[in-house]
Amino acid sequence: MSLKILVVDDEQIQRDMLKGFLEKQGFRVLTATNGREAIELFKDLPLQLVLLDHKMPDMTGDNVLAKMLEINPHVRAIMITAYGAVDTAVKVMKLGAVDFMEKPVNLTDLLEQIQTIEHDLIVEEEALAVTASLEQQNLPVNIIGSSTAMTRLLSMVQRIAPSPWTVLIRGETGTGKELFAHLIHLLSPRTGEPFIEVNCAAIPENLFESELFGHEKGAFTGANNMRKGRFELASGGSIFLDEVGELPLNLQAKLLRTLQEKKISRVGSEKDISVDVRLITATNRNLKDMADKGTFREDLYYRLHVLELELAPLRLRKNDIKELAEYFLEKFSFRPIKFSTDAMTMLVKYEFPGNVRELEHIVQRTVTLARGSVILPSDLPTEVRSQTRVTGTLDQRLKALEKEMINQALEKHDGIQTRAAEELGISERVLRYKMGKLKLKD
Ligand SMILES: Nc1ncnc2c1ncn2[C@@H]1O[C@H](COP(=O)(O)OP(=O)(O)OP(=O)(O)O)[C@@H](O)[C@H]1O
Ligand SMILES: [Mg+2]
Repeated sequence: MSLKILVVDDEQIQRDMLKGFLEKQGFRVLTATNGREAIELFKDLPLQLVLLDHKMPDMTGDNVLAKMLEINPHVRAIMITAYGAVDTAVKVMKLGAVDFMEKPVNLTDLLEQIQTIEHDLIVEEEALAVTASLEQQNLPVNIIGSSTAMTRLLSMVQRIAPSPWTVLIRGETGTGKELFAHLIHLLSPRTGEPFIEVNCAAIPENLFESELFGHEKGAFTGANNMRKGRFELASGGSIFLDEVGELPLNLQAKLLRTLQEKKISRVGSEKDISVDVRLITATNRNLKDMADKGTFREDLYYRLHVLELELAPLRLRKNDIKELAEYFLEKFSFRPIKFSTDAMTMLVKYEFPGNVRELEHIVQRTVTLARGSVILPSDLPTEVRSQTRVTGTLDQRLKALEKEMINQALEKHDGIQTRAAEELGISERVLRYKMGKLKLKD
């Protein structure tokens, strides 16, 4: 993809300089000499990035950008302002979708900004491709959320799904691990083949081997018939080992063997059967830590985490809460009902230790019990309402404040710790230490 950029400036020298530089870098460049011309061009062409001079005779850059955002809300802009024009910067920032450069433009910085934007655009496109496939192929999963974290995740899925490699999905309880495992299968070439789920925490240890690999008739007491195991049933498709961290060590060895040799043998049989399955696993435990402690085989860990998908907890992607809440409201309501602004604000503030599943249950409960056609804060469960009350000793309150500030900084920067630390005025190391201490991380 070569990015198409529109350069808008009333000064010819500036236009020529930017156009020349950007074309040399391989971008396609169009120019406009004023705001009106820029908007006309913008209406007709799919332009993803606009370099806007802020001070032009006919219209200011922010007015031009506001018009462009009406036409295409996804457009990105770099506004070029006079040196030190901070108030303009603040005003323009409110429009969103905008980066800044001061005159005279430092070309190295400009190129770096454009590359960042280009990267973001590719990620967005990949994420959109996932949603488009779901719609076009009418697949039975719905993925809600457009936070940066979710967009990045979907862009990973778009690249991971077509490959044959093993995927390890990590995330706290209720973050959507199972949903994403299914999504990966559906978007893979194995989509028409079986998707077999195994919950490693739910199967008694003595039945595990026969569940996974099957058994022959008479292999053990009660084995009255031959039975195929989950690996055989998944043949040609995908097998999803959920809660793989709960697998006992002796079975880890057997699983490892299966992965190495791509063969299984049923309990009570010496015969090897080849199986062609794609393995997807999930856990809310830290397998690396477990491997270090000796409770999870290190060699198996390396086999499982060839590709890794990390699902962020909901409290670190609060931008998804409203969209998810409205989606679940629609799913569970049998009459016209909506959230009041205050109730929604309260939901967004809540930490959701149980993540998306907890939000789903809260909405289900609330919508069933609420009497009116508007959900009020008083309709929400106590744990959500009690969030906003500040109580406790000085130390407890300070901790709560610290936690809130750290959470807000992390949310604002989509969990990117370097940026959050910068905003808070502390080092990344101190941030990580505090996150650990305040249990903000899994
Ligand atoms: N992005 C999302 N969009 C829509 N629904 C979602 C999303 N994420 C999760 N859900 C829903 O939330 C619920 C919990 O998700 P899921 O069962 O996949 O979580 P999990 O990570 O496997 O949880 P656990 O660790 O407890 O097994 C499901 O009903 C799922 O459909
Ligand atoms: Mg699950």
